[in-house]
Amino acid sequence: MLKKQSVTDLVRADLEGKRVFVRVDFNVPFENGQISDDSRISEALPTINYLCENGAKVILASHLGRPKGIDDSLRLTPVAKRLAELVQFPVQKADECVGSAVESQVSGLASGSILLLENVRFHKEEEANDPAFAKQLASLADLFVLDAFGTAHRAHASTAGIAHYIPAYAGLLVKKEIEFLDNAISNPKRPFVAIIGGSKVSSKIDVLRKLLSVVDTLIIGGGMTFTFVKAQGGKIGNSLCEDSKIGEALQFLEDAKKLSKKVIFPTDEVITQDFSNESPSQIVNVHNIPDGWGGMDIGPDSIELFNDVINGAGTVLWNGPVGVFEMDNFSKGTFAIAKTLANSSAITIVGGGDSASAIRKANLSEHFSHISTGGGASLEFLEGKELPGIQALKDK
Ligand code: 3PG
Repeated sequence: MLKKQSVTDLVRADLEGKRVFVRVDFNVPFENGQISDDSRISEALPTINYLCENGAKVILASHLGRPKGIDDSLRLTPVAKRLAELVQFPVQKADECVGSAVESQVSGLASGSILLLENVRFHKEEEANDPAFAKQLASLADLFVLDAFGTAHRAHASTAGIAHYIPAYAGLLVKKEIEFLDNAISNPKRPFVAIIGGSKVSSKIDVLRKLLSVVDTLIIGGGMTFTFVKAQGGKIGNSLCEDSKIGEALQFLEDAKKLSKKVIFPTDEVITQDFSNESPSQIVNVHNIPDGWGGMDIGPDSIELFNDVINGAGTVLWNGPVGVFEMDNFSKGTFAIAKTLANSSAITIVGGGDSASAIRKANLSEHFSHISTGGGASLEFLEGKELPGIQALKDK
């Protein structure tokens, strides 16, 4: 449960005519100059609409990409255009996020209207969480709302620093994200299955350890598999492996045994000699990959095994692809899991990032209980870490 105040604790009398600074995560992907996935914009609409309907003057702020100073290719102009289409009324766009021009745009804002500030990361003070910059942002508004769940794990000026200067509330997206993720780990419908994929043990070991204590079954897939297979004495050929993590992988398997938790790995693997979509492939036992060959995707037996576990689950949490899904020939495993989850009657929660993109690519989003808008943020939340953006909000 989110133990912080949220926008719905504010009624019309609190909001009418008030300037509300809303930090959103409009860090959306682009393809050929067009927004290729606007879900981070549409997911912010409930908060934006609530504030506009209650007469607030809405000042939106976001980052886009990781600019080093001003970068014209990372301006938020196309985002303002898309947002205007979604809210179906004009959205003003500022060319800066602080300074006198922005201040006069804010003072001219009518109740119920929206101003989108320019990319806050054009100022290095944003990521440095510089107090003077945070104060300057805060001076634009009476209230602060954090609805950027995807950036809540960053202690930046517009996500956390600003909350020192004006009263800070959670937005509806942040509230929904925390409720789904928190409910999944503290009160799951059992059996609770987590599927964790991705390439590196080093970036997932903390979440694996945390999940081990709460799940009934853990499925591990993706490039991480091979470090575990090597740790158990298997032959992994040229597959991805973090030799420095073999000890931790073994310890993890020991811990799972002590807790009597089931940990399931792929049994067969699609392998190639080159890391390319066109490279000829074969399917082999995951413990017997020949030298010169490397794992690219889970094989048909593994798909069947994973599907059986998913079909018996009450809750499934999925984070990370089980193969090189961005290459068409090695996307079968990841898409098969997406399809099985979409058809399952379990509560299905997806921890953002690549698995969320796979689901959107397959047009299956509406069949999931919750798809997080934050890859890094949901992972840190599931690891049990405090997210600085959330921590900074007003307590209930
Ligand atoms: C994301 O896309 O994960 C968030 O927008 C955070 O972006 P960052 O990793 O550049 O801080």
